[in-house]
Amino acid sequence: MKLTKLKINTKTQKYSIIIGSNLVANVSKILKENSINFKQCLLIIDKNISKQFISKIKKSLHTKKIYVHFFKANEINKNFGSVNKILDTLLDKNFSREDCVISIGGGITGDISGFAASLFKRGLKFINIPTTLLSQVDSSIGGKTGVNSKYGKNLIGSFYQPNLVISDVKFLKTLPKRELICGYGEILKHSLIANKSFYNFLDKNSDKILKLSSPFIEKAIYESCKIKKNVVEKDENEKGLRKILNFGHTFAHAYEASLGYSKKLNHGEAVILGMQSALNFSLKNNLIQKKDCDSILMHISKANLPSKIKKFFKIKDLKKILSFMTKDKKNNSHKINLVLLKKIGHPIINREYEKNNLSEFLKSELRN
Ligand SMILES: NC(=O)c1ccc[n+]([C@@H]2O[C@H](COP(=O)([O-])OP(=O)(O)OC[C@H]3O[C@@H](n4cnc5c(N)ncnc54)[C@H](O)[C@@H]3O)[C@@H](O)[C@H]2O)c1
Repeated sequence: MKLTKLKINTKTQKYSIIIGSNLVANVSKILKENSINFKQCLLIIDKNISKQFISKIKKSLHTKKIYVHFFKANEINKNFGSVNKILDTLLDKNFSREDCVISIGGGITGDISGFAASLFKRGLKFINIPTTLLSQVDSSIGGKTGVNSKYGKNLIGSFYQPNLVISDVKFLKTLPKRELICGYGEILKHSLIANKSFYNFLDKNSDKILKLSSPFIEKAIYESCKIKKNVVEKDENEKGLRKILNFGHTFAHAYEASLGYSKKLNHGEAVILGMQSALNFSLKNNLIQKKDCDSILMHISKANLPSKIKKFFKIKDLKKILSFMTKDKKNNSHKINLVLLKKIGHPIINREYEKNNLSEFLKSELRN
């Protein structure tokens, strides 16, 4: 078992992110090394996780009482009903605050499991075992949990830090290519908002990372987690700096909501399109130099990431997209609040624009 450890130190919780290969067979050992103890646990498992991994985890936890709850991960099921089912099981099995919820799945499973953990008796132990690239580099870190509502994505939730995150790259072997690309989008985002030399590393090695070659995939995950950790430690509750993590996300949330969170465009793909919109908007407003913008757009194309917004939307969708952008939870007024880019590694937060500005911009994006 080869691993690296990253320690996160927030005001509410200190915890470790363990990154490596073959970790699932050693969960018990990792718990011991990190002084985490409980008598019983509820495993909330994404239905697409291979049985092989599940039996390894169960075997490793043989000294604990284990209950299992399978979950079909999609944005429609990321709702209060799913959280309620988990809470009912915890109540039915007489869980206490000293017991533990363990999420084994991607960002959706992690978000609903963490939310349920934060609500149950005002919080019980929570361990996240992320199984998608996106969840390993992004959603498992920082304590945002929650569900969607008919008014938009992730509008109901809590900040609740896990006690431990175990990221095993072996899970990624069964992940569809499309999902790998989504995770890569968040890795790219982290480089763009914080670290030019990491961006250069990605630009040189994106093919090896997407082929899951060692040690490139581990380094990409580690550096990405480090960037998110540094941001979250400084601003746990998104009062200021943490907003930089939303680079591309105001556009992205509106894109995925406009398509009804369908499989046509999943979250990570929407983020990649959203980052390109934010980049083009930064260029249009003379915030970023054309050479930086071109380099990033070239990288996206070289790595074969989704890049054609017109493949997903027509001019007739504009009203819907704008209405979702206006509802975004980062807005404090009727204006739309965006995170934009000054240069690679240097984001700008709290830029507010009128709906008309965005309407003109999106019209030109959809026409060109
Ligand atoms: N909490 C946060 O800070 C945060 C940050 C970013 C994104 N998110 C949320 O995360 C969600 C997206 O996460 P995601 O991309 O991991 O999506 P996901 O959880 O839906 O997983 C994507 C797909 O991969 C499948 N899957 C998971 N692990 C697998 C594996 N090892 N092998 C094969 N298939 C596997 C799932 O069943 C699903 O079909 C969104 O709801 C988004 O809002 C949260």
